[in-house]
Amino acid sequence: MTLFRTVAAAAALLVAACQQSATNTASPETAESAEAAIAPILDTPEAKDPASYARPLEARVYHVALDLNVDFDAKRIGGTATLDIDRKPDAKEIVLDDKGLEIESITDGEKQPLQYKVGAADPTMGSPLAVALRPDTKRLIVKYKSAPDAGALQWLTPEQTASKKQPYLFSQGQAIENRSWIPTQDSPGIRQSWEATIHVPAGLTAVMSAPKSAEPITQGGESIFSYKMPHSVAPYMIAIGVGDLAFKELGPRTGVWTEPAMLDRAAAELADTEKMVAAAEKLYGPYRWGRYDLLVLPPSFPYGGMENPTLTFLTPTFIAGDKSLVGLVAHELAHSWSGNLVTNANWQDSWLNEGVTSYFENRIMEAIYGPKRAAQEAALSFDEMEKALAEEGNGPNTQLHLGPKEGVPDGGSSGIIYDKGAIFLRTLEKIIGREKWDAYLRSYFDRHAFQPMTSARFLADMRANLIKGDKGLEQKLQLDNWVYKPGLPSNVARPDPAAFAAVDQAMKSFTSGGPPPTDFQGWTTAEKLRFLNKLPRKMPTSRLDALNKSLKLNESGNNEVLFAWLDLAVRNRFDPAVPALERFLTTQGRRKFVQPLIETLAEDRQWGRPIAVRVYRIARASYHPITQRDLDKLNLIG
Ligand code: BES
Ligand code: ZN
Repeated sequence: MTLFRTVAAAAALLVAACQQSATNTASPETAESAEAAIAPILDTPEAKDPASYARPLEARVYHVALDLNVDFDAKRIGGTATLDIDRKPDAKEIVLDDKGLEIESITDGEKQPLQYKVGAADPTMGSPLAVALRPDTKRLIVKYKSAPDAGALQWLTPEQTASKKQPYLFSQGQAIENRSWIPTQDSPGIRQSWEATIHVPAGLTAVMSAPKSAEPITQGGESIFSYKMPHSVAPYMIAIGVGDLAFKELGPRTGVWTEPAMLDRAAAELADTEKMVAAAEKLYGPYRWGRYDLLVLPPSFPYGGMENPTLTFLTPTFIAGDKSLVGLVAHELAHSWSGNLVTNANWQDSWLNEGVTSYFENRIMEAIYGPKRAAQEAALSFDEMEKALAEEGNGPNTQLHLGPKEGVPDGGSSGIIYDKGAIFLRTLEKIIGREKWDAYLRSYFDRHAFQPMTSARFLADMRANLIKGDKGLEQKLQLDNWVYKPGLPSNVARPDPAAFAAVDQAMKSFTSGGPPPTDFQGWTTAEKLRFLNKLPRKMPTSRLDALNKSLKLNESGNNEVLFAWLDLAVRNRFDPAVPALERFLTTQGRRKFVQPLIETLAEDRQWGRPIAVRVYRIARASYHPITQRDLDKLNLIG
């Protein structure tokens, strides 16, 4: 492949593609044949990735082949990574990203050693790994091991799993953690196809974010699994899970993997997954990844979900018994378009992944569960955005396009990237009209399938294919205000005031001294969350007691509701919630739940801090390295 000579041709193709009308969508073939080519967009200033050392315009990885052994005793993954590279003829070196890898050797395709140098380590970015290239070098073979404290990997002992019998390993690559177990260019604009052969102790199953390429083999005490991703993907999307895993089919192209003890409960909660895939396709075009499976992880998984292609990773805390938290599944599924197909070129444009996905998520929820549930969830998201805007005082962090310093999100939802991003698209939908807007968005995914995206290109694409010189429309949309200015543009589409009318009434009645609502158990989860989140943060113990007794909040089996309640309880030093709080913090490690609660506790020197210390002593070992990294800053334990 000689990409550097085809850049001009590809650029011409891209310009042509951008000029297509919204109804005349590019065929998948056109997009896919272009996917391996270096995206000309990488040559634009907005696409430069400050979170990677790679210089893709000089030399870039386009395929990664891993042959790795998973060593639970040493907590290391090790073996070889064979990198196929594309380069300028005069490139002297290729720069990879490396975070703590132990490198034994680097050779070329002919097994001849190549000189390399690991630069100084930055605490978040890691080190540049510069490999000297000979004029004919097209392949690198890196022999290496990950460090036992690799940020992408969590190693669980058998005791930390549901079965208590086998150890467990999972990876989390986004945003910039995969460089701690894979030596490659770890930047979302540098798409790479990949394949992997994984050796694990016999009896364990290895699953990855790609189609299986051979049946597993068990021999000599080990099992060998093979996966191959035929599409070019951002390197943060390479993911692995290893453990005592069982599979249950959900539909013809959907299924769930998890520990055997969890399988039936997980499958029941996920029963609508196949319908969701169909609904998503109906909205924005074909699902292009083959199967859509989910891996429900042990409770220490630090996120709600992660959109690893073909295999979404999910927290078990979404299981409520009534499908009330499956918005999470709709969200991760939606990333199969916004994020996995069309990917932010760098993390400053995370809203292109997360905001577009949050909008798409809500459309899937509407299609499956109806407009009332969708409108309520959209209204909750509007509350989150307003909270974030207020906390930031409408400051520079409230732009959708982030500056280079704010540009590496370490995950979890933010009221700006997720909620303001989604509300921007909802505003566009309202002004343009659903039919025309949907046709446009679908054509956007087709035109840019398997390509990186920036804010600048998204706006240019909208102008070329949607606005088409209509000056009045251009003015009404306020695109630049939304993307490049802080705060909230004046054209914002506000949520339906009827969405929570009844709940807000109940809330007013309770806060003015009335009894707790009697029909709470029958409310939707969104209604319960609206009620709890809108209560004043400071309340007398007697009122909390009344709430807790009548609404049975300490016993809530819905983790979002429980979290909203515990947040209120902790801020009011409400002792009767402490046993439930301790249980919650020591039985799951979802960062969005544990971090704010432990932080609030830690700030309260007298009442809260001793609880935080007690909990963190017990729970720290089972939290994920990234969660530990954040909570260690509180200096709770010596
Ligand atoms: N891709 C994100 C998770 C992520 C973002 C990890 C940035 C690391 C860095 C995932 O799709 C996500 O948004 N998860 C949310 C759930 C969602 C329903 C808002 C989460 O984990 O809370
Ligand atoms: Zn997301």
